[in-house]
Amino acid sequence: MGKRWLKERKRDYYYRRAKKEHYRSRAAYKLLQLNRRFGILRPGYRVIELGCAPGGWTQVAAEAVGDSGLVVGVDLQAVEPLEYENVVLLRGDFRSTEVRERLRELIPECDALISDASPDISGIWDVDHARSIELCELALEIAEEHLVPGGNLLLKVFQGELLQSLVERVRGCFGYVKLTKPRASRSESAEVYLIGRGFSRLRRGEVYRVKIAGESRRGDGIARIKGTRVFVRGARRGDEVRVRITHLRQGFAEGEVC
Ligand SMILES: C[S@@+](CC[C@H](N)C(=O)[O-])C[C@H]1O[C@@H](n2cnc3c(N)ncnc32)[C@H](O)[C@@H]1O
Repeated sequence: MGKRWLKERKRDYYYRRAKKEHYRSRAAYKLLQLNRRFGILRPGYRVIELGCAPGGWTQVAAEAVGDSGLVVGVDLQAVEPLEYENVVLLRGDFRSTEVRERLRELIPECDALISDASPDISGIWDVDHARSIELCELALEIAEEHLVPGGNLLLKVFQGELLQSLVERVRGCFGYVKLTKPRASRSESAEVYLIGRGFSRLRRGEVYRVKIAGESRRGDGIARIKGTRVFVRGARRGDEVRVRITHLRQGFAEGEVC
């Protein structure tokens, strides 16, 4: 790292603040800002964190979920032990079957998955973008396996032409989706953060055969499918129908008889 880079880093507001407040990275402030705005982590949550070294996000997550929560952090790099009883650190590659297996043992279900994982930077925009998308696709696969209905997602991703298709994939299984850049993220950096709230095991457009168990005040039928409450237009209590999912919302879904 050049002298100029070191000098600029020392002048950087979040770098200095992290030193003063004992966070291991300036990135900690990105998670603090995103969590304040989008409520990704709550007390008691079980969290999978991908790409956690040196541990700034892990500190923020451990404090947000508190003693009744759990944070399992994974990184290729070793992380200096943290003084939190609710943190478990795993060293390894989250693309490997070994790490996937350990995650299944340690935290079979989670309420949030957060990933600040970055590929090794080549400096070639398209290459770095494609590698970042690949990490995000994997993180999403892990999220789909571990998240409980209603759970939340936060992914760091480098901008580029493949971003929109990733956003569409996230839209397919979360009730609320947003791309954002927190203040602590440098404006010249290619990174943005993709947020998904209200995970559902249902997929928009899919069809399910169900028995309508109740009715809403508005007169829609209500069914529970794969842990998600679905309001079904035009259905009555006791009906046995085929339902197509039309919308995923935060905490529920909507469907129509087909
Ligand atoms: C920007 S750093 C994370 C900083 C962290 N959020 C913090 O606040 O301290 C990105 C991390 O992603 C990790 N990483 C990248 N690919 C990975 C993979 N396949 N498995 C595990 N960790 C990975 C890198 O080793 C690196 O430590």
